[in-house]
Amino acid sequence: MNRDVILTGIRSNDEPTIGNYLGAFLPMVELQQKFAGEYQVNMFVPDLHSFTTPIDHAQLYANTIKNLKYFIAAGLAIENEDTFIYRQSFIPAHSELTWILDCFTYMGEMQRMTQFKEKTLQSSSSGTAENSVSVGLFNYPVLMAADILLYNAKWVPVGDDQKQHIEIARDLGLRLNNKFGEELFIVPEEWKKQLAFAKRDNGVRIRSLVNPEKKMSKSIADPRGTILLSDDPAVAAKKVMGATTDSVGSINFDWDTQPGISNLLQMLALMSGQAQEDINRAWTGNERYGDLKKAVAEATEAFLADFQSRYQSVDESALLAKLEASEAAMNEVASSTLLRVQKAVGLRA
Ligand code: TYM
Repeated sequence: MNRDVILTGIRSNDEPTIGNYLGAFLPMVELQQKFAGEYQVNMFVPDLHSFTTPIDHAQLYANTIKNLKYFIAAGLAIENEDTFIYRQSFIPAHSELTWILDCFTYMGEMQRMTQFKEKTLQSSSSGTAENSVSVGLFNYPVLMAADILLYNAKWVPVGDDQKQHIEIARDLGLRLNNKFGEELFIVPEEWKKQLAFAKRDNGVRIRSLVNPEKKMSKSIADPRGTILLSDDPAVAAKKVMGATTDSVGSINFDWDTQPGISNLLQMLALMSGQAQEDINRAWTGNERYGDLKKAVAEATEAFLADFQSRYQSVDESALLAKLEASEAAMNEVASSTLLRVQKAVGLRA
């Protein structure tokens, strides 16, 4: 297995959103189709990451399987021999490498992570966040770095919100390579190269339909602003029709002055598979916001109806068989990376 690795993960705490789909499922499936046979594709569920934000533990196991089914509904071809699907907690090396990396990570680095800061603010109504925020949330990026470094992954297609986490994985990999020898880790490529690899000018960040300054998120209680992949298609279309826009009066793709409109234009481009420039050219200067909303609502409704019917026909027994085989194969890869690290840091002869 000497091929370059493309790797991504989606947590399973809640129902995935159309933001997860457009920011992560879709790019991963596109890359798989484009590079079939040339790269190894790792798609995993970071189930240990799932409880860094509130979850229903009774649902976690079932949600993990559901998430994998969503990936297959999105088009991931699990019959490809170079594609591996697995659950993080079934491969103990993730937790073990995390501890070692933790000891080479600085508090200041973790404190600077935007996601940590944002989530800390959310869970702190009293201003004394330290009391209610878990160490797991603080440490989240280190576990993510282990997820990437264990499999020698160069390419990590993720949404724009994960940019800093890719950078920290790279920094940690390089730091240990400098200290223990260049051969220890293959590090993920820098963000700009990640975008070029995925053929994107900018990272994808789908915003809340109600608060377009914020990203659409499954962990924020914002049901009118969030479209879940399980939403009734007609209800989702209504949410789009109710999206917050602005009073500018003419359509422009400009995140600073017209985030709501730009969000709709981005959703339309990604859902219709057209280049953002082409969509922007078709709509710029148009004064009829209602027409744009209608186009996005129709695209969303059609997409969800089709996606949900594909989900219904996913063969769960084939999924489980693939999962078991992948977990056995990936345990070997991860254990061999871990052993290399254990030797380098002096834990093994
Ligand atoms: P999660 O589950 O929070 O998000 C999964 C993926 O969805 C993307 N995403 C979005 N993209 C565009 N617009 C949005 N509104 C939006 N919301 C979410 C995220 O960028 C992500 O790609 N930390 C990862 C999970 C993870 C991981 C990894 C990914 C753990 N270890 C190793 C890659 C490699 C995350 O954000 O999960």
